Amino acid sequence: MTSKLLRGRTLSFKSRPQARDDHASYVYEEDGALLIENGRISAAGTYADVMFKSPMDVKVVDHRPHLLMAGFIDPHIHFPQMQVTASYAANLLEWLNTYTFVEEQRFADAAHSARFAKLFFDELLRHGTTTAAAYCSVHKGSADAYFTEAARRNLLMVGGKVMMDRNAPEALTDTAQSGYDDTKAVIAAWHGTARNYVAITPRFAITSTPAQLEAAGTLAREHPDLLIQTHLSENNAEIAYTLELYPDARDYTDVYAQYGLLTGKMLLGHAIHLSDREMDAIAEAGSIAVHCPTSNLFLGSGLFDLKRLKEHGVRTAIATDIGGGSSYSMLRTLDEAYKIQQLRSHRLPPIENYWQATRGNAEALGLEDRIGTLEPGSDADIVALDAAATPAMRIRMETIGTLEEELFLLQTMGDDRSVRAVYVAGETV
Ligand code: GUN
Ligand code: ZN
Repeated sequence: MTSKLLRGRTLSFKSRPQARDDHASYVYEEDGALLIENGRISAAGTYADVMFKSPMDVKVVDHRPHLLMAGFIDPHIHFPQMQVTASYAANLLEWLNTYTFVEEQRFADAAHSARFAKLFFDELLRHGTTTAAAYCSVHKGSADAYFTEAARRNLLMVGGKVMMDRNAPEALTDTAQSGYDDTKAVIAAWHGTARNYVAITPRFAITSTPAQLEAAGTLAREHPDLLIQTHLSENNAEIAYTLELYPDARDYTDVYAQYGLLTGKMLLGHAIHLSDREMDAIAEAGSIAVHCPTSNLFLGSGLFDLKRLKEHGVRTAIATDIGGGSSYSMLRTLDEAYKIQQLRSHRLPPIENYWQATRGNAEALGLEDRIGTLEPGSDADIVALDAAATPAMRIRMETIGTLEEELFLLQTMGDDRSVRAVYVAGETV
């Protein structure tokens, strides 16, 4: 049995911070340590305590003065959109039709999918993201490539073959039946293999016929343990078109509810322009509103209403939404989330932001027992972060005295350069 002890300043969350000074919501050790055995964290605490519990021959890796945290989790990202990022468009629908639906057609090719699966996980890991929930393309083979590569690297990844059977180029559409059959095949092949989790993935109401949403609802009933992911209320023109396509729905949220898709497993990307009724329905179902700040700013979609969502009791998450999003970095994403709340006159303390990117996102995926914290028993997916990674950050660090100030600097100025080490199931990558 190989064991490893990581020494550093450890930070792990226990619950959603309710205020800036909610010190009970996290555990921070100035001289902390994590004992890693068989890919899991087997002990956590002060260096002295963990060292005392460790085998005599434990290998010590000293990460001081860097912060050790659970690896970041990105719960809404598009695997086939690495070459869509930074595409110049006026709005969501123009961006989808002009660039995205063109680029995703290339994932019909197995070699292309395999190449991009490697590039995709390289990029996530470089940014300290150890788990993502990704949309693959409509092609079953893109999901095969995604999960093959995730398994090869022993990464805990969620993914789904996109279901879309209308309002897209023919080369990028399935049918209600083939979307169902291919999703079934992806579940059978990959869910529960290595560290893989399959998600049922109807892209959004505009690109699915009622028959396809019906099929997605059937999948959700047949596999109640699986996550479901889609997009909701991102853009005003999208909402208007959706209501034309589904005239019987009370509102956009109701479209998904009518097909049995609004459940505690549902990840709703964007969820920006929602009525009180929709927020209540989402809260009651236990579905999750996923904030995608860099994407929402880039596409001019709107400002996520975190305060109102919390008041309605809606569960939340935060994600990059590459390629609508403009950065793979969860630090850059936290910074933009903060700024959006500034524009809404809502304070978003750094500890709440870091909770969201780690334990909070793990809770959104229902995986908080495996990832998102440094608690004993968790998989050892860990990141070492440096708040003095660049000359400008180093200068600012000279005047920083508290953990909160350091976290705030890290989110405001940090990016992949702040990621000093990444561990996946205890192995350094
Ligand atoms: N709505 C439907 N598909 C997409 C997508 O790929 N990206 C974003 N941002 N919104 C979408
Ligand atoms: Zn998206």
